[in-house]
Amino acid sequence: MSIKSEQDLNGMKKASEVVGETLYEMRKFARPGISTLEIDVYGYKILNSYGANPAPKKEYNFPGWNCISVNNEAAHGIPSKSVILKEGDLVNIDVSAELNGFYGDNGGSFVVGEDINNHIPLVEASQEILLTAIDRIKGGVKISAIGGFIEKEAKKRGFTTIKNLTGHGIGRKLHDSPRELPCYKDRFNLERFRKNSVIALETFISTKSRFVRTAKDGWTLFAEDGSFVAQHEHTLVVTDGKPIILTHNNGIN
Ligand code: CO
Ligand code: CO
Repeated sequence: MSIKSEQDLNGMKKASEVVGETLYEMRKFARPGISTLEIDVYGYKILNSYGANPAPKKEYNFPGWNCISVNNEAAHGIPSKSVILKEGDLVNIDVSAELNGFYGDNGGSFVVGEDINNHIPLVEASQEILLTAIDRIKGGVKISAIGGFIEKEAKKRGFTTIKNLTGHGIGRKLHDSPRELPCYKDRFNLERFRKNSVIALETFISTKSRFVRTAKDGWTLFAEDGSFVAQHEHTLVVTDGKPIILTHNNGIN
Protein backbone atom coordinates (compact mmCIF):
# COMPACT_ATOMS: atom_id res chain seq x y z
CA MET A 1 0.00 0.00 0.00
CA SER A 2 0.97 3.62 -0.24
CA ILE A 3 0.86 5.64 2.99
CA LYS A 4 -1.56 8.51 2.38
CA SER A 5 -2.33 9.74 5.88
CA GLU A 6 -1.17 9.78 9.48
CA GLN A 7 -3.80 7.09 10.20
CA ASP A 8 -2.29 4.82 7.53
CA LEU A 9 1.18 5.25 9.04
CA ASN A 10 -0.02 4.72 12.60
CA GLY A 11 -2.05 1.66 11.59
CA MET A 12 0.97 0.11 9.87
CA LYS A 13 3.24 0.99 12.80
CA LYS A 14 0.91 -0.62 15.31
CA ALA A 15 0.44 -3.87 13.35
CA SER A 16 4.18 -4.09 12.65
CA GLU A 17 5.21 -3.49 16.26
CA VAL A 18 2.84 -6.22 17.45
CA VAL A 19 4.33 -8.80 15.05
CA GLY A 20 7.82 -7.49 15.89
CA GLU A 21 7.32 -8.00 19.62
CA THR A 22 5.74 -11.41 19.04
CA LEU A 23 8.68 -12.59 16.92
CA TYR A 24 11.15 -11.28 19.52
CA GLU A 25 9.39 -13.09 22.36
CA MET A 26 8.96 -16.34 20.38
CA ARG A 27 12.67 -16.42 19.57
CA LYS A 28 13.50 -15.92 23.24
CA PHE A 29 11.07 -18.69 24.19
CA ALA A 30 12.59 -21.24 21.74
CA ARG A 31 15.03 -23.65 23.39
CA PRO A 32 16.09 -27.31 23.23
CA GLY A 33 13.30 -29.64 24.39
CA ILE A 34 10.38 -27.41 23.40
CA SER A 35 7.99 -28.28 20.57
CA THR A 36 7.23 -25.92 17.68
CA LEU A 37 3.54 -26.16 18.64
CA GLU A 38 4.32 -24.75 22.11
CA ILE A 39 6.20 -21.84 20.48
CA ASP A 40 3.30 -21.28 18.10
CA VAL A 41 0.70 -21.14 20.89
CA TYR A 42 2.97 -18.85 22.93
CA GLY A 43 3.12 -16.46 19.97
CA TYR A 44 -0.60 -16.69 19.37
CA LYS A 45 -1.31 -15.60 22.95
CA ILE A 46 0.80 -12.46 22.47
CA LEU A 47 -0.90 -11.59 19.16
CA ASN A 48 -4.30 -12.27 20.67
CA SER A 49 -3.59 -10.05 23.69
CA TYR A 50 -3.35 -7.12 21.23
CA GLY A 51 -6.42 -8.19 19.28
CA ALA A 52 -4.24 -9.09 16.26
CA ASN A 53 -5.27 -11.92 13.93
CA PRO A 54 -2.55 -14.28 12.66
CA ALA A 55 -2.40 -13.74 8.89
CA PRO A 56 -1.42 -17.25 7.73
CA LYS A 57 -4.66 -18.61 9.23
CA LYS A 58 -6.84 -15.64 8.26
CA GLU A 59 -5.57 -15.29 4.70
CA TYR A 60 -4.62 -18.84 3.73
CA ASN A 61 -6.20 -21.14 6.33
CA PHE A 62 -2.67 -22.30 7.24
CA PRO A 63 -2.74 -25.10 9.88
CA GLY A 64 -1.04 -22.99 12.58
CA TRP A 65 -0.85 -19.40 13.85
CA ASN A 66 2.72 -18.80 12.75
CA CYS A 67 5.12 -20.49 10.33
CA ILE A 68 7.91 -22.33 12.15
CA SER A 69 10.42 -24.09 9.91
CA VAL A 70 13.14 -26.37 11.30
CA ASN A 71 16.42 -27.47 9.67
CA ASN A 72 15.76 -28.54 6.06
CA GLU A 73 12.38 -26.80 6.01
CA ALA A 74 12.91 -23.50 4.19
CA ALA A 75 9.56 -21.81 4.93
CA HIS A 76 5.88 -22.34 5.82
CA GLY A 77 6.71 -25.10 8.32
CA ILE A 78 3.66 -26.31 10.26
CA PRO A 79 3.95 -26.06 14.07
CA SER A 80 3.72 -29.53 15.58
CA LYS A 81 3.89 -31.16 19.00
CA SER A 82 6.08 -33.88 17.49
CA VAL A 83 8.78 -31.43 16.32
CA ILE A 84 10.95 -30.98 19.42
CA LEU A 85 13.81 -28.50 19.09
CA LYS A 86 17.33 -29.80 19.64
CA GLU A 87 20.63 -28.11 20.36
CA GLY A 88 22.05 -26.70 17.10
CA ASP A 89 18.78 -26.75 15.12
CA LEU A 90 18.30 -24.08 12.46
CA VAL A 91 14.89 -22.53 13.09
CA ASN A 92 12.91 -19.90 11.21
CA ILE A 93 9.92 -18.18 12.77
CA ASP A 94 7.75 -15.97 10.57
CA VAL A 95 5.03 -13.88 12.22
CA SER A 96 2.44 -11.94 10.22
CA ALA A 97 -0.84 -10.58 11.50
CA GLU A 98 -3.68 -8.15 10.87
CA LEU A 99 -4.59 -5.45 13.39
CA ASN A 100 -7.39 -2.93 12.72
CA GLY A 101 -7.25 -3.67 9.00
CA PHE A 102 -3.46 -3.31 8.65
CA TYR A 103 -0.90 -6.10 8.22
CA GLY A 104 2.61 -6.47 9.62
CA ASP A 105 5.02 -9.24 8.59
CA ASN A 106 8.45 -10.25 9.85
CA GLY A 107 10.64 -13.29 10.25
CA GLY A 108 14.02 -14.48 11.32
CA SER A 109 16.24 -17.57 11.32
CA PHE A 110 18.38 -18.49 14.31
CA VAL A 111 20.21 -21.39 15.91
CA VAL A 112 18.83 -23.09 19.03
CA GLY A 113 21.41 -23.24 21.82
CA GLU A 114 25.01 -24.01 20.78
CA ASP A 115 25.81 -23.83 17.05
CA ILE A 116 27.08 -27.42 16.87
CA ASN A 117 26.05 -27.74 13.19
CA ASN A 118 27.76 -24.52 12.04
CA HIS A 119 24.64 -22.73 10.77
CA ILE A 120 25.71 -19.33 12.11
CA PRO A 121 27.53 -18.16 8.93
CA LEU A 122 24.32 -18.70 6.93
CA VAL A 123 22.15 -17.01 9.57
CA GLU A 124 24.50 -14.03 9.85
CA ALA A 125 24.69 -13.67 6.08
CA SER A 126 20.90 -13.55 5.83
CA GLN A 127 20.49 -11.00 8.63
CA GLU A 128 23.36 -8.73 7.54
CA ILE A 129 22.35 -8.81 3.88
CA LEU A 130 18.75 -7.90 4.79
CA LEU A 131 19.93 -4.85 6.73
CA THR A 132 22.39 -3.67 4.09
CA ALA A 133 19.80 -4.20 1.33
CA ILE A 134 17.23 -2.13 3.28
CA ASP A 135 19.81 0.69 3.54
CA ARG A 136 19.94 0.85 -0.26
CA ILE A 137 16.19 1.14 -0.81
CA LYS A 138 14.61 4.50 -1.53
CA GLY A 139 12.03 5.89 -3.93
CA GLY A 140 13.22 5.41 -7.54
CA VAL A 141 15.61 2.52 -6.93
CA LYS A 142 14.96 -0.48 -9.19
CA ILE A 143 13.53 -3.55 -7.50
CA SER A 144 15.89 -5.68 -9.63
CA ALA A 145 18.90 -3.72 -8.32
CA ILE A 146 18.10 -4.71 -4.74
CA GLY A 147 17.52 -8.32 -5.82
CA GLY A 148 20.88 -8.25 -7.59
CA PHE A 149 22.55 -6.79 -4.50
CA ILE A 150 21.17 -9.55 -2.25
CA GLU A 151 22.30 -12.22 -4.73
CA LYS A 152 25.79 -10.72 -5.12
CA GLU A 153 26.33 -10.38 -1.37
CA ALA A 154 25.20 -13.97 -0.81
CA LYS A 155 27.57 -15.19 -3.52
CA LYS A 156 30.51 -13.34 -1.92
CA ARG A 157 29.98 -15.50 1.17
CA GLY A 158 29.64 -18.73 -0.82
CA PHE A 159 25.84 -18.87 -0.67
CA THR A 160 23.02 -18.74 -3.20
CA THR A 161 19.59 -17.10 -3.13
CA ILE A 162 16.26 -18.84 -3.61
CA LYS A 163 14.49 -17.70 -6.77
CA ASN A 164 10.92 -18.80 -6.09
CA LEU A 165 10.47 -17.17 -2.68
CA THR A 166 10.28 -13.38 -2.48
CA GLY A 167 9.44 -10.32 -0.41
CA HIS A 168 6.29 -8.38 -1.30
CA GLY A 169 4.26 -5.22 -0.88
CA ILE A 170 2.06 -5.16 2.25
CA GLY A 171 -0.62 -2.95 3.78
CA ARG A 172 -4.34 -3.62 3.99
CA LYS A 173 -3.51 -7.07 2.61
CA LEU A 174 -0.65 -9.39 3.58
CA HIS A 175 0.48 -9.61 -0.03
CA ASP A 176 0.01 -6.33 -1.87
CA SER A 177 1.76 -4.76 -4.86
CA PRO A 178 4.60 -4.97 -5.71
CA ARG A 179 3.74 -8.63 -5.77
CA GLU A 180 7.32 -9.87 -5.81
CA LEU A 181 10.60 -8.52 -4.44
CA PRO A 182 13.00 -11.25 -5.61
CA CYS A 183 16.42 -12.07 -4.16
CA TYR A 184 18.08 -12.07 -7.57
CA LYS A 185 18.51 -9.69 -10.48
CA ASP A 186 15.43 -10.09 -12.66
CA ARG A 187 16.39 -8.21 -15.84
CA PHE A 188 12.80 -8.16 -17.03
CA ASN A 189 11.52 -6.40 -13.92
CA LEU A 190 11.73 -2.67 -14.65
CA GLU A 191 9.64 -1.67 -11.63
CA ARG A 192 11.05 0.79 -9.07
CA PHE A 193 10.45 1.27 -5.36
CA ARG A 194 8.00 4.10 -4.72
CA LYS A 195 8.23 6.66 -1.93
CA ASN A 196 5.59 6.09 0.80
CA SER A 197 4.95 2.49 -0.21
CA VAL A 198 5.10 -0.24 2.43
CA ILE A 199 6.99 -3.42 1.69
CA ALA A 200 8.05 -6.60 3.46
CA LEU A 201 11.63 -7.25 2.34
CA GLU A 202 12.81 -10.84 2.82
CA THR A 203 16.10 -12.59 2.23
CA PHE A 204 16.13 -16.26 1.26
CA ILE A 205 19.79 -17.31 1.47
CA SER A 206 20.73 -20.91 0.81
CA THR A 207 23.83 -23.04 1.28
CA LYS A 208 23.44 -24.23 -2.33
CA SER A 209 19.95 -24.44 -3.77
CA ARG A 210 18.17 -21.95 -6.06
CA PHE A 211 14.64 -23.29 -5.73
CA VAL A 212 12.27 -24.66 -3.11
CA ARG A 213 9.43 -27.07 -3.62
CA THR A 214 6.34 -28.02 -1.64
CA ALA A 215 6.32 -31.06 0.65
CA LYS A 216 3.59 -33.71 0.69
CA ASP A 217 1.75 -31.84 3.47
CA GLY A 218 0.92 -29.17 0.88
CA TRP A 219 2.51 -26.33 2.91
CA THR A 220 6.11 -26.88 3.96
CA LEU A 221 8.73 -25.68 1.49
CA PHE A 222 12.05 -27.52 1.11
CA ALA A 223 15.18 -26.65 -0.83
CA GLU A 224 15.03 -29.14 -3.70
CA ASP A 225 18.55 -30.48 -3.04
CA GLY A 226 18.25 -30.62 0.75
CA SER A 227 20.24 -27.39 1.32
CA PHE A 228 19.62 -25.19 4.33
CA VAL A 229 17.88 -21.84 3.88
CA ALA A 230 17.89 -18.80 6.19
CA GLN A 231 15.40 -15.94 5.98
CA HIS A 232 15.09 -12.55 7.68
CA GLU A 233 12.26 -10.10 7.05
CA HIS A 234 11.26 -6.57 8.04
CA THR A 235 8.20 -4.50 7.17
CA LEU A 236 9.28 -0.99 6.12
CA VAL A 237 8.18 2.28 4.55
CA VAL A 238 10.10 3.52 1.49
CA THR A 239 11.11 7.20 1.69
CA ASP A 240 13.47 9.65 -0.08
CA GLY A 241 16.23 8.59 2.29
CA LYS A 242 16.65 5.60 4.57
CA PRO A 243 13.50 3.47 4.91
CA ILE A 244 11.50 3.51 8.15
CA ILE A 245 11.73 -0.01 9.58
CA LEU A 246 8.32 -0.64 11.17
CA THR A 247 9.27 -4.01 12.73
CA HIS A 248 12.43 -2.52 14.33
CA ASN A 249 11.52 -4.00 17.75
CA ASN A 250 11.92 -7.63 16.55
CA GLY A 251 15.63 -7.66 17.47
CA ILE A 252 16.87 -7.95 13.87
CA ASN A 253 19.18 -4.96 13.75
CO1 CO B 1 6.77 -13.25 6.68
CO1 CO C 1 6.43 -11.79 3.96
